[in-house]
Amino acid sequence: MNQDSVVYLNGVFKPLSEAKISVLDRGFIFGDGVYEVVPVYCRRPFRMVQHLKRLENSLAAVGIPNPKSAAEWKTLFMEMVRQAPYEQQAVYLQITRGVAPRDHGFPHGVTPTVFMMVNPLKTPTPEQIEQGVACVSAEDFRWHRCDIKSISLLGNVLLRQVSVEAEATETVLFRDGFLTEASSSNILAVKKGVILAPPRDHLILPGISCEAVLEFASMLGIPVETRPVPREEVLTADELWLTSSGKEVLAVTMLDGKPVGDGSPGPVFKKMWAYFQTQK
Ligand code: PDD
Repeated sequence: MNQDSVVYLNGVFKPLSEAKISVLDRGFIFGDGVYEVVPVYCRRPFRMVQHLKRLENSLAAVGIPNPKSAAEWKTLFMEMVRQAPYEQQAVYLQITRGVAPRDHGFPHGVTPTVFMMVNPLKTPTPEQIEQGVACVSAEDFRWHRCDIKSISLLGNVLLRQVSVEAEATETVLFRDGFLTEASSSNILAVKKGVILAPPRDHLILPGISCEAVLEFASMLGIPVETRPVPREEVLTADELWLTSSGKEVLAVTMLDGKPVGDGSPGPVFKKMWAYFQTQK
């Protein structure tokens, strides 16, 4: 993405260099907004309906009126996809409560700020797919509404930095001894051929890739148990996977410097990864 890349801001397509917002935008002042990231393969959005549904849920949860209908969002999305100069894309969409004098309470009569941009989609490298990636763990100290895809990502940013500094791919999070997710991915464990999935409650983001993987599991006949997963079970899991738009499904082969399972991507991962490739 460069300064000439076309972005969308409040009804207008314009070059990135010309896209400007007020410093009083509540996104800037309070992190008061929500967002989505939709992966696009060969100019075809992956699970757009589900992404738009989650956007709707996030907006409703924070009381920002949805500025567009699903049909209008789709039209806008497809226009962004058409204008971007590459085939594999990550479409970013952000809505904030709008511009108003700084006051914590919701302002009246403001128009939400709508921003969209497209970046090249970064998927795992062949080496990461074949060897898996290293992660570190940390205590999940974020708020209790991680189900909202909020732009207030300071907790996630600080937790991601823990793994950046350890030269690891992700930070795997535990809250009070139970697995939640990772700083910008969901996480699944595999034990004796069964996928263990943390409950989709308010402590994790309901990931669209994770939902897809669990659906694929049922098609592949791989059993899934959705329930709290204690740390001990993660440490003795045969396999650990990250899922996200971008990572798709990716094996974690080292956690805190110790091998996961035998330290290489496991058989269940290989089956899932291959199936994922046929569905995107
Ligand atoms: N992050 N959990 C968190 C905290 C995330 O930030 C993400 C995605 C996910 C996976 O959700 P999905 O499968 O719908 O991408 C889980 C995006 C990609 C981001 O913030 O850039």
